[in-house]
Amino acid sequence: MRPDPSPEPQPTADDPGPRRTAARVTLRSDSRAAAADGLAALVLTALIFALLYVRIRNGSSSTLTVMPFMADAGAFWLYFLSQAFGWSALLWAWLTVLLGLLLSGPRPRAHRGAWLSGPRLERLHRTTSLNTIALIAAHALVFAAELVRHDTGAWHASLARALVEAFVPGGYTSGTGRVAIPVGQAALYLAIPLGLLFYVRHRIGPRTWRVLHRFVLVVYVLSLWHTLLYGTNVWYDGAFRTVLWALQLPLAALFLLRLLRPARRSQRLTRPGPGAGPRLRWGLRLAGRLVAAGLVVLVLVVLATGRDGGREKPPEDTSSTHNHG
Ligand code: HEM
Repeated sequence: MRPDPSPEPQPTADDPGPRRTAARVTLRSDSRAAAADGLAALVLTALIFALLYVRIRNGSSSTLTVMPFMADAGAFWLYFLSQAFGWSALLWAWLTVLLGLLLSGPRPRAHRGAWLSGPRLERLHRTTSLNTIALIAAHALVFAAELVRHDTGAWHASLARALVEAFVPGGYTSGTGRVAIPVGQAALYLAIPLGLLFYVRHRIGPRTWRVLHRFVLVVYVLSLWHTLLYGTNVWYDGAFRTVLWALQLPLAALFLLRLLRPARRSQRLTRPGPGAGPRLRWGLRLAGRLVAAGLVVLVLVVLATGRDGGREKPPEDTSSTHNHG
């Protein structure tokens, strides 16, 4: 394990520092601590499920415009439950990314010594990450259960088919799902190692862990892409889709701020020293800041123009010709 030469503004659980004497954080201790926000996520999932179910029953859900055969809410309740888990997974992913950016960027002063102190913020970041993985898994598992339920074959063959469709890239072969499902699977399969490597950081080295953990942002981008591409509640232009884009503005702004004012002094954009290595690092850091600024502009443009990639809603008297699959 190589020591990290960069000076620390504050000791953190990922890199405790000499002053820290608190008990070591393990997957087991964090799993126990995750119960509280896990319960909150389940309550939220239940509320979203109720909302989606009511919207199917009263005919206002755009899921019905895309897939009119789902009008029998009782027959497809598992599908709506899977959608609800998808939304709580995305919201928890949003929350954990927000907390992560607060921790690695300029920590707000109000948080020091307050209820949301650094260590609390950090623990919440870890527990919401664990719960995000569990919620994504629940979303996909309930979707698989829905496939089994509507498959008329022998149960073991139906189960095998459903697991392949939900969990094996390329196993789902119809409509938009051919792209959207593997994108979601990639998010799940990346989230597991990138989230859990924290618990073996002493073996791989805190620095390696930190570099790998940064790629967790890719998980979030894939999750959002999957939702915008495949979610039937945000399938068409309209308020839901706009709100989803609007939610990305604080994350994009915090990401930019995190790069402009990183908590670690060693990550600041200072004049590069001599040699190709420092210049390359400097170039990459500058490119990162430009990309982050571009993301803020992109979200603002989407919100200002309303061009958010949503499909045009078909006229009332026809059913959708869009291929959801
Ligand atoms: C194995 C991985 C995954 C599978 C098999 C899967 C499956 C699906 C399916 C079939 C839909 C369409 C539901 C609809 O008609 O609206 C969907 C939508 C959705 N998924 Fe996933 N997904 C996966 C990963 C993810 C991930 C990683 C996230 C976010 C963290 C996510 C969040 C969502 C959301 C928010 C929706 C929109 C639901 C709606 O419109 O009500 N999914 N997913």
